[in-house]
Amino acid sequence: MEAKKDQYTLQTGAGIADERLGFLQKVHGPDSIAFLRRHMTSKNNRILDIGCGTGYMATWMADNIAKNVTAVDQSLAQLEIAKLRTTSLNIRNIEFIQGDAYDSAMQAGQYDLTYSRFLMQHLTDVPRFLKNTFDSKNCDDSNYLIIEAAIHSGWASIPHQNYIISAANLFKSLLEINGSDFDIGNKIFHTMRARERQARGEYSEVGSDF
Ligand SMILES: C[S@@+](CC[C@H](N)C(=O)[O-])C[C@H]1O[C@@H](n2cnc3c(N)ncnc32)[C@H](O)[C@@H]1O
Repeated sequence: MEAKKDQYTLQTGAGIADERLGFLQKVHGPDSIAFLRRHMTSKNNRILDIGCGTGYMATWMADNIAKNVTAVDQSLAQLEIAKLRTTSLNIRNIEFIQGDAYDSAMQAGQYDLTYSRFLMQHLTDVPRFLKNTFDSKNCDDSNYLIIEAAIHSGWASIPHQNYIISAANLFKSLLEINGSDFDIGNKIFHTMRARERQARGEYSEVGSDF
């Protein structure tokens, strides 16, 4: 039986949707970029970006650390904006594909790095995504997986601001309507640590967080 397709709750395409991802890039981009610069120093000939949106990180990776980037998103509207961004920056080593995250995860083994930012909180079956990825990968030093994902409990401010907590709770409720999880980052972190321990031959129960 074919699996049910996930619904993406947020708006896509030009205007407010791209503005939202632009804001996200302004807030999180410097950390995403610093992390990649620091850890992706070996050859990253081929990078796969799953759920690339309007292409902020995909274009940066193509311009800075990759020989070739394959950027996948289920939304044509997002990909149209991403292509305009790439053309305006004169970046040519990037290919945009309309596709599904679960299917793309099965291709992870063909890439030096599989990268995905802020997609996991929109998926309803993250264990399936991870299984597809792990099944396809060699999990050695030339075959990386980097996931940036939301942690609901990580939304806080000092001094305390009610509107920050309200915004976090609103987003959590919105995602729950679709069966997604705004705290998914925590679970992915523990699952990946467990895999790491298993790979070292230590006992660990993989996937117990799901
Ligand atoms: C919050 S945006 C993040 C975009 C980009 N990674 C970034 O950090 O700017 C999530 C993106 O995932 C895409 N998406 C959601 N569900 C998907 C699925 N099942 N397969 C492929 N793409 C999906 C959406 O269309 C959207 O563009």
